[in-house]
Amino acid sequence: MNKKIIISIIATIIISFFTINKVFSKEKQKNINKQINIEDKFNFLGNINKKINYFKEDYLDRYISYKKRNKSLSNSDVVLHVNIGIDQNFYTNIKEAPKAGTNYVLVNKFYYLNKDYIPNNLEEIDNNYSVPGKKLVNTAKISFEFLAKKAKEEGLTIRAISTYRSYDYQSNLYNKYIKEDGVEKADKYSARPGFSEHQTGFAVDVDNKITNYNNFDTTKEYKWMLENAHKYGFILRYPKGKEHITGYMYEPWHYRYVGVNIATFIKQNNLTYEEYYFKYFDK
Ligand code: DAL
Ligand code: ZN
Repeated sequence: MNKKIIISIIATIIISFFTINKVFSKEKQKNINKQINIEDKFNFLGNINKKINYFKEDYLDRYISYKKRNKSLSNSDVVLHVNIGIDQNFYTNIKEAPKAGTNYVLVNKFYYLNKDYIPNNLEEIDNNYSVPGKKLVNTAKISFEFLAKKAKEEGLTIRAISTYRSYDYQSNLYNKYIKEDGVEKADKYSARPGFSEHQTGFAVDVDNKITNYNNFDTTKEYKWMLENAHKYGFILRYPKGKEHITGYMYEPWHYRYVGVNIATFIKQNNLTYEEYYFKYFDK
């Protein structure tokens, strides 16, 4: 073979070798930089990733940005709030409600039920404990009747005034409220259609027949509910001081059936359903 050709082949091989090597080491350096970057981010969050099992690396940049905007929040609350979604505006990044059809279903301003979603096993509540014709999913209905019966034995009246509401019913209700109060105000107390827990068949609004439900927290019945609702699987769904998490103003009349174990845990730990859900269900 011609000497010149051999030299040029060797030269090409050597040049290719160095070029490939350069590309690879650039890539390697990039990965190292990325790694250092991630380590910095974990450090910024006090290495909370090693301390809690609901940390999601995919949300790392959202955690950092939320922490920068809420410096006084603990790192575990930063992670929890971002997982719940409240680092973003309500009614953005909406998804279909998880665990629909079960008493674990999560419906809020980020998780919705479809227009045609109707729960199975809706049953009418005994008229002794409800305005006529109000329905809940049978497990919730049975537990609610037990609860109201026990309250009655103690001389108290707990009556269901609003329970399962269809998508269309909620739509009319919400539209009526926005006409009366405007969107901003209505959004604080009424869910948009598809986003109401009442569509799950596991939510119930109550009164004591005498006092307007808006003032339910001034009644003996409310005090009783605070102490006892969990024993029948119900939680106060929109508590005072948690408006930034639930997205709704305090609603002393609105209870949600989640089952006795979860309701008891939520009460003992002063959680909202969102906080419970994203700490213990959504791994
Ligand atoms: N009032 C509650 C939030 C609802 O409309 O479902
Ligand atoms: Zn309600």
